[in-house]
Amino acid sequence: MARTPFVAGNWKMNTAKASAVELAKGIAKGAPSPNDVHVGVAPPFVYLDAVGQALAGSNILLGAQDVYSEASGAFTGEVSVDQLKDLGVKFVLTGHSERRHVLNETPELIGKKAFAAYRQGLIVVHCVGEKLEERDSHQTLDVVRKQLGELGGTLDDATRLVIAYEPVWAIGTGRNASDAQAQEVHAFIRHELSKQFNATFADHVRIQYGGSMKPENARGLLGQPDVDGGLIGGASLKSDSFLAIANAAIGNR
Ligand code: PGA
Repeated sequence: MARTPFVAGNWKMNTAKASAVELAKGIAKGAPSPNDVHVGVAPPFVYLDAVGQALAGSNILLGAQDVYSEASGAFTGEVSVDQLKDLGVKFVLTGHSERRHVLNETPELIGKKAFAAYRQGLIVVHCVGEKLEERDSHQTLDVVRKQLGELGGTLDDATRLVIAYEPVWAIGTGRNASDAQAQEVHAFIRHELSKQFNATFADHVRIQYGGSMKPENARGLLGQPDVDGGLIGGASLKSDSFLAIANAAIGNR
């Protein structure tokens, strides 16, 4: 099954308005063809509009780092799916480890967010991954299985569900999973998706690797049969390194 890889930049709480626009323009200018790899960026909420305008006319997908599960109303500080769509947002991250472990989002809320975004037409990039102590105590696959279960088996359009495997111990630490460690968990995720949904569906879903992916290790990771792209933090903040990773995803398997 030939899945078009998807490489997305998660800018987290970085950039200012001018640098966000400049970064977006640099990425749009050098981006490879969407026939070869889908490329997306998720800037901070406050710069979505400006970045969206900077990306106009390009094939770069605009993404949001978070979303709220309710459609509108008294939810101070939150942002709805419709508000994101209004700005041209195409994909949204759910279950990122920083939202799970720093902002203390519950599995229940994460599931509601994923469902709301999916139901209203967005691509959901659902992030899963174990903490170091969970890996050390051989709980990795159990943790990942539970986090996949947050989707409740209801997101059944494989073009709009992406799973990002991001071991927490690899995020922002400079210490990436080995090629074999990533492939083992990615294959497990695909197997779990085939159980929760069906085999054809599982075969079509893109599974990104995230956690200290950079130009130096991208080829090896992206060369694994079940690694279909990357979710990139630190290395997405410079257009050169981000585009090098996007290019490494092309024709690499
Ligand atoms: P990193 O972040 O590439 O800086 O490790 C990845 C992520 O959190 O999505």
